[in-house]
Amino acid sequence: MDTNLRGNDPGQLGHSLANLTEVLIPLLDAVAARSVMEIGSYAGDLTRELCNWAVGAGASVTAIDPAPRNGLIELSEQRPELELLRETSHHALRHVSLPDVVIIDGDHNYYTVREELRLIDERARGADAPLLIFHDVCWPHGRRDAYDDPEQIPPERRESMVRNARVFPGEPGIAQGGLSYPWAAAREGGPRNGVLTAIEDFVKDRDGVRLAIVPAFFGFGVVWPRDAPWASAVAGIVEPWSDNAILARLEANRVLHLAKEHLRVAEVMLWTMRSKDLERRNADLERRNADLERRNADLERRNTDPS
Ligand SMILES: C[S@@+](CC[C@H](N)C(=O)[O-])C[C@H]1O[C@@H](n2cnc3c(N)ncnc32)[C@H](O)[C@@H]1O
Repeated sequence: MDTNLRGNDPGQLGHSLANLTEVLIPLLDAVAARSVMEIGSYAGDLTRELCNWAVGAGASVTAIDPAPRNGLIELSEQRPELELLRETSHHALRHVSLPDVVIIDGDHNYYTVREELRLIDERARGADAPLLIFHDVCWPHGRRDAYDDPEQIPPERRESMVRNARVFPGEPGIAQGGLSYPWAAAREGGPRNGVLTAIEDFVKDRDGVRLAIVPAFFGFGVVWPRDAPWASAVAGIVEPWSDNAILARLEANRVLHLAKEHLRVAEVMLWTMRSKDLERRNADLERRNADLERRNADLERRNTDPS
């Protein structure tokens, strides 16, 4: 059994959805997907797995990302089954053909996800709706917004944001150390905050839509219409994993240790900075002391030899 983390993950965070392909790929087969869209493809770690699947399934993959990393750009040049659109989801969802499956893993905040769901829903409802797959429905983004580009969010919709925010499990405010994000909401929880809250608000307004959560690798969510012809196949794949107490406990423990390690790194950096500062101040004091000793010796010499 291959237990290594998937994708390019030097920080060993388990950040890519590629770590969840044992659930994700069977879902694509269950709906007999011929087209899959990944919103937020980053370096192409999951995209590569999707392309490998697409070759066998005779399917196409669309990656939507306004800031693709090199790995994804190279992949798009190598793989004919992949189309890369360098634009935001809100822009792309207004003009691309709606696929059979949409994987939502772009900007992790309430406004962005809620608007992505509104745009999809506007174009396909009920049994015609695509299968929706989400990443980051558990800690930290399930109940706390993060923003890649705050300028994309209407000012009245932004939670109060903190730059270079550090978050720690169990701390609803901003922590001294922990996982860090360029921008995050100042507090966890409350209305219109977080990816899971956006999904729940979407599901709440609709009849016959099911949400399941697999609490692993920051949380994997699935939403599907109960009256779709493939609904029971999807339920059969997801339900054994969903809301699994053992998985949830493992994930809570995993993120706690990740955050603790990041806290320790921040403490070591602070300690190193402080000790360098102390070394500088110490060297300065030693220089001043040597100077005073020289002046003292000079005075003593003059006292004993007044001529
Ligand atoms: C967490 S990474 C995606 C990881 C990838 N899905 C995986 O599993 O390996 C998030 C990506 O979303 C992209 N992104 C940010 N805002 C976006 C938006 N509004 N629309 C689409 N993508 C967005 C970022 O550029 C980044 O590459």
